[in-house]
Amino acid sequence: MYSQDMVDSINRLEETRKKRIKQDFTLLTSEEKYNLLNQFHPDYKKGTLRELRIGPNKGERVINEIANLFEAYSQIDPNNFDFSEIDHEVDVLVIGGGGAGASAALISQENGANVLLATKLRFGDSNTIMAQGGIQAADKQNDSPPRHYLDVIGGGGFENTPELVNVLVRDAPDAIAWLEDLGVMFDKEIDGTMITIHGGGTSRKRMHSARDYSGGEIMKTLKDEVKNRNIEVIEYSPAIELITDAGICTGAILYNLETDEYIIVRSKTTILATGGAGRLHVQDFPTSNHYGATADGLVIAYRAGNPVIFMDNIQYHPTGAAFPEQIVGLLVTEKCRGLGAQLVNNDGDRFIYELETRDAESAAIIRECVERNKGIETPTGMSGVWLDTPMIDIIHGKGTIQKKLPAMYRQYKRFDIDMSKEPLLVYPTQHFQNGGIIVNEKTETKIINLYGAGEVEGGVHGRNRLMGNSLLECIVFGRRAGKNAALKAKKTNYGKLTLQHVKRYHMELKQANISKDCKSPMLLPDYRRKETISRMIDI
Ligand code: FUM
Repeated sequence: MYSQDMVDSINRLEETRKKRIKQDFTLLTSEEKYNLLNQFHPDYKKGTLRELRIGPNKGERVINEIANLFEAYSQIDPNNFDFSEIDHEVDVLVIGGGGAGASAALISQENGANVLLATKLRFGDSNTIMAQGGIQAADKQNDSPPRHYLDVIGGGGFENTPELVNVLVRDAPDAIAWLEDLGVMFDKEIDGTMITIHGGGTSRKRMHSARDYSGGEIMKTLKDEVKNRNIEVIEYSPAIELITDAGICTGAILYNLETDEYIIVRSKTTILATGGAGRLHVQDFPTSNHYGATADGLVIAYRAGNPVIFMDNIQYHPTGAAFPEQIVGLLVTEKCRGLGAQLVNNDGDRFIYELETRDAESAAIIRECVERNKGIETPTGMSGVWLDTPMIDIIHGKGTIQKKLPAMYRQYKRFDIDMSKEPLLVYPTQHFQNGGIIVNEKTETKIINLYGAGEVEGGVHGRNRLMGNSLLECIVFGRRAGKNAALKAKKTNYGKLTLQHVKRYHMELKQANISKDCKSPMLLPDYRRKETISRMIDI
């Protein structure tokens, strides 16, 4: 499968393996890390941010692709929207069908709420289901939530929102126990002890996994549970706008992608669990994200007046697939590096310790390819570095890859690449939205009766998330949102349904001379086929 040039490069890599196995690599000093990020991390590239002209974060610099969505008109006309027929009236509306949404729905129902879960595509289509490596929790004797806390804060550049990190790490052991109780099959030793490994930036082995399909295992279990408990789910219906009444969230307008109809949901409380933004392809990076990750929740919450945090920042996963072309951008799990796979350049040399935090790893790979010209070129002109996966079997014994990384093994075997014998070509891929809408420990947003959980909210990871804290965030904050929204719903009456906030936002856009051609949320990525685009409202 590999070209002759690539095979020659692999030969060089094989020659250095013996030496590399024994090679020690020291962690970067903070000054080295700062310089590396400053010069090579995409977030620091000139011209990639711009100042917002409107909304709660007006005057702050955010990434261009996000600014484009914030500085845009609603897909619907707020002056002519007909609220005369309400389709659903519920205590709690959960918007989003990934791990956070499903967890929120389950716990809301347990707390006595009548719940409706609405999701853009099929229930479960989400970044959760695509998560591979695992979920962190400090639940072993040599570990503790305070240790986990320090790792999260260090990984995030010491800028995380401390109260949210506190919640994340303290609720973590209970989140794992809850998942296990629901039926998640975590990897275990023969005596029943949970197997845990390191991820980048962790001081203890606290990554729990289900092989390399951890998110799939978790999502499948949550989804089954939602179905078993008869929670109502509406598919193919993303939220296109929140509904408000004098600053209070009173529901949402969904848009049925299959029938082109609007669905009006009146709710006492609403939980946004809409996930991330990978399909914006920031700076034209490929992405590991699912098809629906288009930042919709961010947009509609911002339009309703909720501020965002760290939107000048994106997480690029260091090891996205760079070859073959068909899977460019898909994840090559960090678990490979956790198990000993090394990053190697075209000369067969290592150039960074493999378990630095992701921002530093990505910057080092970009430096190797772009500045030092030590990347390996693919037949179509892409560049990447080797991830020397055969080292995993060399270190842990033959068969380890097939046992611990079966999904990854199959992903490559389809293209005649045997990752237990040959290395994989990798390059950073857009993976995660570190920032998001501001919430507090109870997951309350600044908009009364609106909650946020999962990738859509920001602050917990600071400027760089550690592996395994995303699945954790979904479960911890999803559960919190579910409980708090259900309890609040008990004390809340239905409100009026208005789009006053959209009207106000449109006024601001007009005053800032922003073109009416810009509309958001985008709902689906814009490389849709023409027929699909033409079915979209107002386009
Ligand atoms: O590399 C991975 O398996 C990714 C995990 C994560 O983003 O948490």
